[in-house]
Amino acid sequence: MIFDAGKIMLGLAAFAGLATAPAWYDAAGGKVGARPRLEVGTSEKRCVLPVEDMRATHMQLLYGWRDGVVRNGRRMTHTSDGKPIRMSLTGTCLGCHSRKAAFCDRCHDYAAVTLNCFGCHADSKGPEKDP
Ligand code: HEC
Ligand code: HEC
Ligand code: HEC
Repeated sequence: MIFDAGKIMLGLAAFAGLATAPAWYDAAGGKVGARPRLEVGTSEKRCVLPVEDMRATHMQLLYGWRDGVVRNGRRMTHTSDGKPIRMSLTGTCLGCHSRKAAFCDRCHDYAAVTLNCFGCHADSKGPEKDP
């Protein structure tokens, strides 16, 4: 039951991605200059969803995680290839994307997106912080 809800959320996020992908590809389409060079920050090969879906829908995915934790008291979900993971912005996302400045921030600066998340959430995983 609990995990089914998580799958539905991932599914919705992936679906929303198909709808919003073109906007991102246009924005990054070379008219405004080259896409910034991003440092993924991990030797892992895969993100929590296929990379195209992440590009387009990581925002919705994060809001879904937040709601899962804050409203439903649920902390675990799955990657799209079935690995259990914690729904944690700092612990999970920045656990792999260990150089936020050279990954999240670099892309957001390019796309002129500003976030307030890190006013409250730690901006690096650090040695003993989880989340
Ligand atoms: C297990 C490690 C891992 C975790 C956890 C992880 N990522 Fe990723 N992420 C990757 C890898 C590896 C890539 C590059 C995959 C590729 O190029 O095929 C990636 C790619 C991305 C991309 C696309 C980058 C581009 O080049 O366009 C975004 C956006 C992203 N991740 C955001 C996130 C967010 C947000 C979270 C947390 C919800 C997260 N990632 C969690 C490993 C991870
Ligand atoms: C490949 C580029 C790219 C990367 C890498 C990336 N983002 Fe984003 N992010 C975007 C874009 C573009 C938007 C705005 C999308 C929109 O408004 O539809 C966005 C929006 C967001 C939002 C929603 C902001 C809001 O106010 O609604 C969050 C949260 C977010 N990103 C978190 C992250 C985190 C955390 C990472 C690093 C782990 C990351 N992003 C990496 C491109 C990226
Ligand atoms: C005013 C402070 C505040 C802001 C701003 C904020 N959060 Fe949170 N967030 C919290 C608190 C408090 C929790 C609950 C922490 C817990 O129970 O582990 C939480 C939980 C979460 C969680 C699940 C638990 C975790 O460790 O990540 C996610 C995902 C999340 N928020 C994402 C976001 C995103 C994305 C943004 C920005 C768009 C954001 N939050 C902005 C305070 C904030």
